[in-house]
Amino acid sequence: MSSRTVIRGGLVITASDEIHADVLIEDGRIAALAASGTPAAEAFTAERTIDATGKYVIPGGVDAHTHMELPFGGTFASDTFETGTRAAAWGGTTTIVDFAVQSVGHGLREGLDAWHAKAEGNCAIDYGFHMIVSDVNQDTLKEMDLLVEEGVTSFKQFMAYPGVFYSDDGQILRAMQRSAENGGLIMMHAENGIAIDVLVEQALARGETDPRFHGEVRKALLEAEATHRAIRLAQVAGAPLYVVHVSAMEAVAELARARDEGLPVFGETCPQYLFLSTDNLAEPDFEGSKYVCSTPLRPREHQAKLWQGLRTDDLQVVSTDHCPFCFVGQKELGRGDFSKIPNGLPGVENRMDLLHQAVVDGHISRRRWIEIACANPARMFGMYPKKGTITPGADADVVIYDPHAEQVVSAETHHMNVDYSAYEGRRLTGRVESVLSRGEPVVTEREYTGHAGHGVYTPRSTCQYLN
Ligand code: URP
Ligand code: ZN
Ligand code: ZN
Ligand code: ZN
Repeated sequence: MSSRTVIRGGLVITASDEIHADVLIEDGRIAALAASGTPAAEAFTAERTIDATGKYVIPGGVDAHTHMELPFGGTFASDTFETGTRAAAWGGTTTIVDFAVQSVGHGLREGLDAWHAKAEGNCAIDYGFHMIVSDVNQDTLKEMDLLVEEGVTSFKQFMAYPGVFYSDDGQILRAMQRSAENGGLIMMHAENGIAIDVLVEQALARGETDPRFHGEVRKALLEAEATHRAIRLAQVAGAPLYVVHVSAMEAVAELARARDEGLPVFGETCPQYLFLSTDNLAEPDFEGSKYVCSTPLRPREHQAKLWQGLRTDDLQVVSTDHCPFCFVGQKELGRGDFSKIPNGLPGVENRMDLLHQAVVDGHISRRRWIEIACANPARMFGMYPKKGTITPGADADVVIYDPHAEQVVSAETHHMNVDYSAYEGRRLTGRVESVLSRGEPVVTEREYTGHAGHGVYTPRSTCQYLN
């Protein structure tokens, strides 16, 4: 039985176009677009009509960096796949790519199976997986090939967190060489973790235990150095590289230089680096712990360089790195020792709105908003044009966005399972009104109409930036 919906009268925005058009949805996919008011649009018939007059009609957001239920520092990220994907939907995101974890001494498959078990039947929106590689050995390298074939086409490695997720340069080079052969994309957490651990030890010995010292020891130069090293290792391996959560302007400069050289090197930043700073880390009464993540927040002057990188395409993607820990009982584990504060910030619900505010503030254009939040992550991780755009044949993941609505961000009203908001009290212009996932209403005029288990696993092709 066919089910059809038509969205009438909105401004349809994609990475490439803005057009006043009606959108016909049939059986969960975009069936056709036609300029509003034309005979072609009038001919669209459907069981359900959504009036989008005065609103934007945009592709559902693609958040390519989340950590639902991540084990970290003796605790777990506080959003489950159920609560985290519901919050994502509220914020206009219809696809996440989360990180399955290989534990040291175990295989990739075992880790991936565990993450499938956490997600299956629980998600409100579609989801895929990257794989965190913590133990590079011959078996791991062989398993990478198999994972690429079945749609897990990207692998995160860490130059930070010695003893946990850390890979040394030899392990990184081997994984990169393998990805050069099998088409996988290495995603790099670029911070010199060995040097940082020395600085952590020295800071604690001096009695520097407050959250702000987390930002001081994880130096911008050590992000830039690791970014440079990752770029050159990838160049030696003949592999592409995607650097995650870039926060330092010196790291952006490394990416820009490599791209000028013609290397297939890509960068992601996150809303927290664009909107927050070391001022937040320095908030008194341990409030700064709410802003502890790695790479860390930087002094304000870095923000302008991140915006510039997004405009000049030296950075291609904005993801959240959503990794929430409650202040009470979780962030508090690090009272008296900043190195014990679990690393990560909540944000999966806030990304589309914060980036729309960046449009209002003149940092980026409307189309660039959609490009960095929807189209580029879909292309980078092999889901385009199924995800990330509004075109015939694409999944009908569509957001009706009210660009004039005013909102105040608050933990009182957000849907993430975490007891604070990193953006508490911030006034934003623009708000999600309705969300469709594969044609099904998930949010309807600010009411939740979705359900756990609607979201399905989405296998991915290899990076489409390289074709
Ligand atoms: O602080 C962060 N970013 N926590 C999540 C893990 C990671 O490194 O992405
Ligand atoms: Zn990381
Ligand atoms: Zn992360
Ligand atoms: Zn459903």
